[in-house]
Amino acid sequence: MINIAVLGYGTVGSGVVEVIDTNSTEISSRLGEDIRVKYILDLRDFPGDPHEAQVVHDIEIIFADPDISVICETMGGMEPAYTFTKKALEKGISVCTSNKELVAAHGPGLIKLAESNGCSYLFEASVGGGIPIIRPLNKALTAEHIQSITGILNGTTNYILTHMDEDGVGFEDILKEAQRLGYAERNPEADVEGHDAARKIAILSSLMCGSNVRYEDIYMEGITGITPEDFKYAHALGMSIKPLALSRETDDGFFAMVAPFMIESSHPLYMVKDVYNAVFVSGNTLGDTMYYGRGAGKLPTASAVVSDVVDCARHPGKTVACVWNEQDVRLTGIDEYKCRFFVRVSADKKNDADAVFGEVKAVDAGISGEYAFITGVMSNADFDAACGKVGGVISRIRTF
Ligand code: HSE
Repeated sequence: MINIAVLGYGTVGSGVVEVIDTNSTEISSRLGEDIRVKYILDLRDFPGDPHEAQVVHDIEIIFADPDISVICETMGGMEPAYTFTKKALEKGISVCTSNKELVAAHGPGLIKLAESNGCSYLFEASVGGGIPIIRPLNKALTAEHIQSITGILNGTTNYILTHMDEDGVGFEDILKEAQRLGYAERNPEADVEGHDAARKIAILSSLMCGSNVRYEDIYMEGITGITPEDFKYAHALGMSIKPLALSRETDDGFFAMVAPFMIESSHPLYMVKDVYNAVFVSGNTLGDTMYYGRGAGKLPTASAVVSDVVDCARHPGKTVACVWNEQDVRLTGIDEYKCRFFVRVSADKKNDADAVFGEVKAVDAGISGEYAFITGVMSNADFDAACGKVGGVISRIRTF
């Protein structure tokens, strides 16, 4: 019998308990023993809940019980999750988490602490919800030199852009609808400005290079400036606009960014719609692989947490390997990143734009008073300099 405690009985924490209840037969047959939720830590009581007898309000009850070998930290946020996680690992109790803020901020220190105490710090649910991506990077792809990761890592922004694309509505209207449906927070800034995706790509990038990619260093642009007119041009091109997070090995080191990109219908991420997430990973000998599924939600995220519990239970007294050193990676700047750009300028700037940008592909979406085009591949610094010379830029979106 593996006895566990769940910290936080909110959406994901209650999902962890539900997954264990629902799939106890499958879990027991794969693990060779049962998993029992012995404690649920929460400030609240849950009268009438089938697990109300397991609810405790004092973390020390959990730490004092030698039966507890794994803790699921599903509280979210930095404190008290960080203090509780450190204390658990110091006691040799493995911690499985969905807390991307904590993993992005303190992942390597907590992994090291787990290693020195013969236990594990696992975080499959912190990126892509129920999509297996951390375990593939740590286990299945260990023979690969990973060269790039491109992902749709935020369900809220993918939902918003999908419906701007398909229904022709503006950002503010679809944001309200997403909030009504519970897909967007009341304060949507972390999602729509890119912070959430930046934390997730920082975690994946760190696993890609084995050292610490700080999310604060990642260049980030949100989706708030994307308009229905931009989608009219995308349709004219047979393209769409997607909220991407990417990591690239470059000649000079390593680059990561979060921004909306215009992508071709042939791109594997084009068909990833609504709240779905996907991660596209390219390795030097394997080539391309893609991981797709529900990037958020109670049961998908909880399923990933429970898969980590099973992994810990299979390695009692040992550390499940994860290479993520504390040394910070110096990222190359946005100025050097090269791509093509979709650009809209006022119609009177057409001659200046053609003169400055050289050979471009013009795009006609039937919108008067504008000239739109796609540039050749150029650095972001050269693009900004060119825009400065032309002036009158209405919008610009990166493309591959
Ligand atoms: N707000 C996040 C998203 C939740 O929209 O993807 C899952 O991390």
